Amino acid sequence: DIPYFTLNTGYKIPSVGIGCWMGSPGGGEIVEQMCKTALQAGYRHIDTAYGYGNEEFVGKAIRESGVPREEIFLTTKLPNHHHHKVKQSFEESLSKLGVDYVDLYLMHWPQAFTEDNKPIPYGQSPTFVETWKDMEALLDTGKVRSIGVSNFSIKLLEVLLRETDVVPATNQVECHPCLPSVDLKLWCEQRGILITAYSPLGRPGELPGRPGEFDGKPVFLDDPDVKSIAEKYNLSPAQVALSWGVNRGTVVIPKSQNPERIKQNIRLLDLPDEDMATLNEIHLKPGMHRSLLRYHEYSGDGTIFGWTYEQ
Ligand code: A2P
Repeated sequence: DIPYFTLNTGYKIPSVGIGCWMGSPGGGEIVEQMCKTALQAGYRHIDTAYGYGNEEFVGKAIRESGVPREEIFLTTKLPNHHHHKVKQSFEESLSKLGVDYVDLYLMHWPQAFTEDNKPIPYGQSPTFVETWKDMEALLDTGKVRSIGVSNFSIKLLEVLLRETDVVPATNQVECHPCLPSVDLKLWCEQRGILITAYSPLGRPGELPGRPGEFDGKPVFLDDPDVKSIAEKYNLSPAQVALSWGVNRGTVVIPKSQNPERIKQNIRLLDLPDEDMATLNEIHLKPGMHRSLLRYHEYSGDGTIFGWTYEQ
């Protein structure tokens, strides 16, 4: 069985989930098949989003899998261009998924956009604080068990915690051996916010339409230390990276549409401290560190949306 973490709401979340971002919106039947394969392999945690454009297919996979809804931890997310209509967008997601509740509802990004996808300058309504208050109100409907955020920096979380009542159950951010986000993780842990690591394999598959924003190279999967740990335990380098993620107390949500890799990604190991120490230092090697300028680096036009790596 896949180990669980407990959220600050008391609900349990499986430490590994299947990620449903397919590189561009959609995925349709591919996502449906991926979720079915994952559920059959023993996954009980699916991470999707309104913005992934595949909630209908995730819902269909759940219904047709034969796995009872209440055994599955289901996450979806509020898109940027719906911050002004949280309740309506949430209901839309529920109906696309065809479920009567979700386990976790996340604010996908701290940045609101207009309906026609223009960023709304920082500080203008709806601010992420206003949006969060509308998400808090969803808890009273009984249709969402926990709420959280995604892509939030410490700086933004400080504002959120100061100005609102409910502490997010999770902050879902990119996290892997080349981007361990040590400070953010510690800050969140101290406040009961669980980190969910997206792209826990360091984005080996390049995202289309974002040329130059990252090189797409799976650097740590080729790293000699990662490989030697993998060989020692008869694991793949990906399993080593995912084991590291879970062992350090983060949820990991690798996406894979390959049945063998789907199965592989839930067979993880409790790594000894010495291996954890080696893996903790991978990002310190020359050329291995990726720091993401998270969304507190306000861009010139006053928006907080950004996607920039420092090398
Ligand atoms: P594939 O779907 O062909 O398995 P993300 O960063 O969105 O989580 O994407 C993960 C990427 O890593 C996908 O491109 C996926 O490709 C690949 N991947 C998933 N599991 C493994 C694995 N065990 N070994 C190598 N690559 C993997």
